[in-house]
Amino acid sequence: MNSKELRQSFLDFFTSKQHKIVSSAPMVVKNDPTLMFTNAGMNQFKEVFLSQGEAIAPRVADTQKCLRVSGKHNDLEEVGHDTYHHTMFEMLGNWSFGDYFKEDAIAWAWEYLTEVLKIDKNRLYVTVFGGDEKDKQERDSEAAVEWEKWIAKDYILDGSKKDNFWEMGDQGPCGPCSEIHIDIRSEEERRKISGKELVNKDHPLVIEIWNLVFIQYNRKANGTLESLPQKHIDTGMGFERLAMVTQGTKSNYDTDVFQPLLQNLASLSHKKYGENKEADIAMRVMADHLRAIAFSIADGQLPSNTGAGYVIRRILRRAVRYGYTFLALEEPMLYKMLPVLIETLGEAYPELKKQQDIISKVIFEEEQAFLRTLSKGIIILDKYTNQLKKEKKSIFNGNWAFELYDTYGFPLDLTALILKEKGFSVNQEEFDEAMSVQKKRSRQDAVVNKGDWIIVQEFSDEKFIGYDVLETQIKIFKYRKINVKGKTVFQLVFNTTPFYGESGGQVGDFGYIEDNEKKYSIFDTQKENGLIIHYLKELPKQLEGNFKAIVDSNRRINITNHHTATHLLHYALRKVLGSHVEQKGSLVNTASLRFDFSHFQKLTTEEIAKAEQIVNRLIRENISLQEYRETPIKKAQEMGAMALFGEKYGDKVRVIRFGDSVELCGGTH
Ligand code: SER
Repeated sequence: MNSKELRQSFLDFFTSKQHKIVSSAPMVVKNDPTLMFTNAGMNQFKEVFLSQGEAIAPRVADTQKCLRVSGKHNDLEEVGHDTYHHTMFEMLGNWSFGDYFKEDAIAWAWEYLTEVLKIDKNRLYVTVFGGDEKDKQERDSEAAVEWEKWIAKDYILDGSKKDNFWEMGDQGPCGPCSEIHIDIRSEEERRKISGKELVNKDHPLVIEIWNLVFIQYNRKANGTLESLPQKHIDTGMGFERLAMVTQGTKSNYDTDVFQPLLQNLASLSHKKYGENKEADIAMRVMADHLRAIAFSIADGQLPSNTGAGYVIRRILRRAVRYGYTFLALEEPMLYKMLPVLIETLGEAYPELKKQQDIISKVIFEEEQAFLRTLSKGIIILDKYTNQLKKEKKSIFNGNWAFELYDTYGFPLDLTALILKEKGFSVNQEEFDEAMSVQKKRSRQDAVVNKGDWIIVQEFSDEKFIGYDVLETQIKIFKYRKINVKGKTVFQLVFNTTPFYGESGGQVGDFGYIEDNEKKYSIFDTQKENGLIIHYLKELPKQLEGNFKAIVDSNRRINITNHHTATHLLHYALRKVLGSHVEQKGSLVNTASLRFDFSHFQKLTTEEIAKAEQIVNRLIRENISLQEYRETPIKKAQEMGAMALFGEKYGDKVRVIRFGDSVELCGGTH
């Protein structure tokens, strides 16, 4: 099977088991402060696992684009050096939301691998959670019993909490898992040493392919586990690894997923893949990273200096640097590989093809800018080495190396490499010290300690009524205490709320709640996993009572004006520059709006003036708002509303129309 057929066979198999096939969620996560990128197939279903949202079907399957470069699951440093880790990868997954559990999940995984894909049963090993004393957890013998129906006991191995207990973060739904490993070594090697000995030992040819997670607990803030009322299945299988297995290669990079990219790079760089260890690593890094970068840009995340944009910039720089050092590429090269990437993946992910021009342009410019930085860094490095030469010293100060790293994006190994060629060495201890000071600083900035949610009174769901009213009676559903940079604040969820939680670029509402005695100020409203969360500095004394909730209406009106103006601006820019202009991001607050969009060149003064004229004319026309809530997405598109790449829409959407401007939008107008 080629990779296209393989992807389809997985989806077909689970369709035959009554699963609903859903599309991949964007790889760049929006509106979830706990996650920058989708790092597992289950991310888009977090709300269901947390009982904060309804499942679209009891059984679901998909292939999800994932990125593992930050946070709890981070593979970046391995990528390129081995043959089976990636930054961006596809995860095939099937889910049960309170429906089937271990028995079927295990039986179907086995059936798919051994009967559909016809993988040799003797090469498969499975692991089960072996228990954990600290968590007071016993061995997952339930899973073991199910496996014993299919595979000899000898091939079922007990695993540790690290490998066999899956958690998406420090808190939340989690459970024991069973991994399926495969041994693809030669017969001869298998005779010498049993695959059993090599499971979970970082052997490149004895690797995990599928993880079946049995979500049955909730990890609380104090670290203890509580049983969930409903049990769920979450499985994830690495698509590129599976392709390696079914295509009979020994490396993910030798499959039809990566080979076209590597061959293309080989001809562009006049090198051969497979001849030189370091050049091969560099080629794998470039092929892998191009995928991560292209998919992020297609999802609307451009490289930048903060947050998710900075992660993407760093990945791009890592690729450029490997190419520069090991393939002698001094000119932009990644962008030239884009057409080949689109040939291999453009059908499964049409967002790549549709946005090819902008992706190419952005990558080219980033590459060019970083190559300039590299040459600037080399000048600075020369300045320091000349100084050392005069002083007849050979040790390069670690703080200088850190300055090169921090300001010029020079990783230590690059600095060390250049220095070595000149006969110098770097003081690694000083460098590490400077690095750890910086890390400590940024950790302190980022620490947020969250307590458990405490239910005040049960409500099935929190309703947002803030499109229609800014004042209402509410009750408190639940609250928790959080600690941000040493300060304690409270997050409250109501039964119903007029407060808009920050999303879609629009900032959250301020205001207050009031009981008979006192007003309690709400200084921010955020959205997290489908909940609207109100931030208070002080917790009301009587939590069970009725409160009046009042949104600061002056502030809201200013925000609303800016949001509508954003739509008008989007419309005007498309009129002036063309329909390739698409929103890539926005910020709508009380004082201003910012609108990010893609265009091939800087706007001319005339173009800016034209767009301004259109917006001003539309404002003066005072067009009234037409709002269509709960509109089926198909119908909305027929009305001319544009769905943006990188956004996840439900089946029903809200359409906002001002004259000819038609947008899918959850904001206030
Ligand atoms: N969530 C699990 C993983 O990422 C299975 O999908 O491995």
